[in-house]
Amino acid sequence: MSLYDDPEWAPYLEHPDNLKLKGTAVITGGNRGNGRAFSCAYAQAGMNVAIIYRTSEDAPEVAKRIQRQFQGVRVQAYQCDVRDFDKLRETFKQIEADFESPITTVIANAGVSTVKPALQLSHDDFERVFNTNVYGVFNTCRVAAE
Ligand SMILES: NC(=O)c1ccc[n+]([C@@H]2O[C@H](COP(=O)([O-])OP(=O)(O)OC[C@H]3O[C@@H](n4cnc5c(N)ncnc54)[C@H](OP(=O)(O)O)[C@@H]3O)[C@@H](O)[C@H]2O)c1
Repeated sequence: MSLYDDPEWAPYLEHPDNLKLKGTAVITGGNRGNGRAFSCAYAQAGMNVAIIYRTSEDAPEVAKRIQRQFQGVRVQAYQCDVRDFDKLRETFKQIEADFESPITTVIANAGVSTVKPALQLSHDDFERVFNTNVYGVFNTCRVAAE
């Protein structure tokens, strides 16, 4: 089934279809939410897309569906926690090797939130958000710049 005929995918596909780009884009958290919209947009524009996810087991299938929809591009999922700098660096190297081209676009989108009143927010809750949303973005930008 075309992604355009699947109501679950409709919100991810609302963007103009006249943009043409080349190269490889890495989208952290590119398997769902806002990140899936980035993955679809870059694949539709003609870029190969590497999706970095943390735990979602369906991420490889999400990548396959996007690749099937937008022919001529390669879309692949990589499991990596953006809080782990060394693993992230290895993953970027693996992506460049697999795609046989340099990474030209990086979207540091992966993030988490804990919605609780401040007085119920534990140190661990806050640390998880801070480590992902601050160090995770720093790690992604740092590795991308290397
Ligand atoms: N939605 C909003 O209204 C909103 C508003 C403002 C800002 N944002 C920000 O926009 C970004 C995306 O939001 P969203 O609502 O689309 O989030 P989401 O649907 O909850 O998806 C989060 C994505 O980030 C990935 N992720 C989380 N922690 C990770 C880690 N440590 N390493 C690698 N990947 C990780 C998840 O992978 P898994 O699927 O494997 O867990 C998932 O793909 C976040 O940074 C969020 O804070 C969102």
